[in-house]
Amino acid sequence: MTIEPIRDQLRRPIRDLRISVTDRCNFRCIYCMPKEIFGDDYKFLPKNDQLTVDEICTVARIFASLGVKKIRITGGEPLLRRDLPEIVGRLSRLEGIEDVGLTTNGLLLKQYAQPLFDQGLRRLNISLDALEPELFAYMNGRGIEPGIILDNIIYAREVGFQVKVNMVVQKGVNDREILPMAAYFKQLGITLCFIEFMDVGNDNAWSIEQVVTKQEIYDRLSAGDELEPLEPHYYGEVAQRYRYKDGAAEIGFITSVSESFCSTCTRARLSSEGKFYTCLFASRGFDLRELLRGGASEEEILSAIRGVWEKREDRYSDERTQQRASQRTKINMSYIGG
Ligand code: GTP
Ligand code: 5AD
Ligand code: SF4
Ligand code: SF4
Repeated sequence: MTIEPIRDQLRRPIRDLRISVTDRCNFRCIYCMPKEIFGDDYKFLPKNDQLTVDEICTVARIFASLGVKKIRITGGEPLLRRDLPEIVGRLSRLEGIEDVGLTTNGLLLKQYAQPLFDQGLRRLNISLDALEPELFAYMNGRGIEPGIILDNIIYAREVGFQVKVNMVVQKGVNDREILPMAAYFKQLGITLCFIEFMDVGNDNAWSIEQVVTKQEIYDRLSAGDELEPLEPHYYGEVAQRYRYKDGAAEIGFITSVSESFCSTCTRARLSSEGKFYTCLFASRGFDLRELLRGGASEEEILSAIRGVWEKREDRYSDERTQQRASQRTKINMSYIGG
């Protein structure tokens, strides 16, 4: 199917699809699923409510025909889904899809890295917020040691993956780890991406005082290392990238708070129960599962998606400081997929 390119109200095309394959996670990161809220009695989505592999692939194929070229699989923790290698394999083979990546906390990679590689996956973004064992154990809410994740990062690289490490920086919590993390991954030649702490969802007690901006991080790094900016890999790339002048490694910054990037945002999001969101900070999604399970044709689903995208005006990060924006009820990150 070839369809004319679609654009939203701000003339942004649709290029990326972030698919959350589960709302569950084996971590309880303090900034995402604090364990006081996501406790034993927390009601996750029942299995039947999650899209099946076939349903995910049908939706992704329709998005591809509307212009999506890049897919990122997220969660919750995507490795908790046993059929993940099949999902990855089928998405990688879809016509029009040029790149499939996966974002994970890395805990289960010993088991899954090889099967995922065998299914055609090549890019992994692995989250790690600290090297100090007690601090990391506290931040992931489950007492997991950083050594396990570090081993799995090396293992994934040996399997053949291009690995990027994500670090969410929270002032007063892990900002003292900025320089040790940078030095550690520089020496390994692995890209480290610093993410400004964001006000996703309603449960992470976000405040602007806890954000360490890109500029602050950059200043600390450049006291010891010379960095030079790199051109984006593609239009609308989320991370701003830099290269060490004396090394092979790169550094990235995701500056949703200090330098928003909504004007080039080409990302659609699909939750594990089949809701289509046009922004990470959306309050409401469009129910595609109802259409899928109600017998709608692919043309009908396509035209519904097109209608939602063509009405899209989201630019939350541009508007964050306006009071009305920050008071909205948002969807939790573990559900919408980051
Ligand atoms: P690649 O560029 O494909 O490597 O992936 P990525 O960096 O976009 O994806 P990843 O899942 O590693 O996300 C890194 C961080 O960027 C997470 O904190 C995401 O929530 C954030 N992010 C990704 N897309 C957006 C977006 O559209 N808006 C905002 N505000 N944050 C985003
Ligand atoms: N702010 C910034 N990044 C976040 N992530 C999860 N919650 C937040 C938040 N509140 C990150 C994860 C992972 C990616 C998908 O999003 O650490 O690297
Ligand atoms: Fe799980 Fe990732 Fe959220 Fe941490 S940030 S709780 S690993 S989904
Ligand atoms: Fe896109 Fe919304 Fe993020 Fe802005 S805040 S970049 S519109 S997802």
